[in-house]
Amino acid sequence: MFNLKHLTGLKNLTRADIEYILNVARNLESVFAGQKVSRILENRVLATLFYEPSTRTRLSFESAMIRLGGSVISVADAQRTSSAWKGETLPDTIRTVENYADIIALRHFEVGAAETAAQYSRVPILNAGDGSNEHPTQTLLDMLTILKERGTLDGLNIVMVGDLKHTRSTNSLALGLSNFDVAFTFVNPPGFSTSQWILDILKERGIPYTQTENLSEAVHDADVVYVCRIQKERLESPEDYHKIAGSYALNRSILENASKVVTVMHHLPRVGELAEDVDSYPGAAYFRQPYNGMVVRGALLTIFLNRVPEEYK
Ligand code: NCD
Repeated sequence: MFNLKHLTGLKNLTRADIEYILNVARNLESVFAGQKVSRILENRVLATLFYEPSTRTRLSFESAMIRLGGSVISVADAQRTSSAWKGETLPDTIRTVENYADIIALRHFEVGAAETAAQYSRVPILNAGDGSNEHPTQTLLDMLTILKERGTLDGLNIVMVGDLKHTRSTNSLALGLSNFDVAFTFVNPPGFSTSQWILDILKERGIPYTQTENLSEAVHDADVVYVCRIQKERLESPEDYHKIAGSYALNRSILENASKVVTVMHHLPRVGELAEDVDSYPGAAYFRQPYNGMVVRGALLTIFLNRVPEEYK
């Protein structure tokens, strides 16, 4: 039985919770594909409260809410355009916004911000990214993408490439997939490896993983390759960026040497680590992920607002 009030991370979601969310998402697809009209979120208001830049996450949340009959209020640059600029704390802002909205999608630069907001909020908080910690709605759209592209979430070799130290979407994806039968290969420049707390959870759950710097070798036996951006804004010094920028990039020739067609994913935006010659590769799924983002976020809004029709469960 799904009984979470807030979505702060993947850490607390079970396999059954994930399957439930993905199932509701698949049932909602006909609405987003324009085959069916649904007003299941009528009279509900979503607030998108974003303290960091966003294109896909905020707009897909808003589009999903509107397409399902709900309404949206939005602060896109809260650090500068909300009372945060005057020094208001996050708890105080949350205790204000909860009066205006039935659900809040929050993106914040601080690790743990969604947990803090959830402690104060009467209405559900959906974490749209908290610093370098977690990005659960990205993970659920990534899992829907893998399911659609590969037909299963089990028995897969998953390669993650890039700045695995600071990337919240790979943190959450590793946690989410650790509820399934998968094996990970992490490819990263020295000093940019997956955080120890994620590795500890993988160990605890008996999920095999290896860490390497050799991208071609890792890709050879992969089912899914998930490429991520160097999180420049989260590095301690700008020199660190120049040290590793361009140190890895997935391109078509690496993929042509793989033993099968690989599903290529990226949370986007890409800035050089995924060559444009991959765009026409048959397994390139990264421009299908943004669509799946709208579908999954629609499912999450429907679930957390308790509006899931019986036949969608
Ligand atoms: C990412 C994010 O903000 O974490 N974008 C997204 O939500 N798709 C990735 C990034 O900024 O690199």
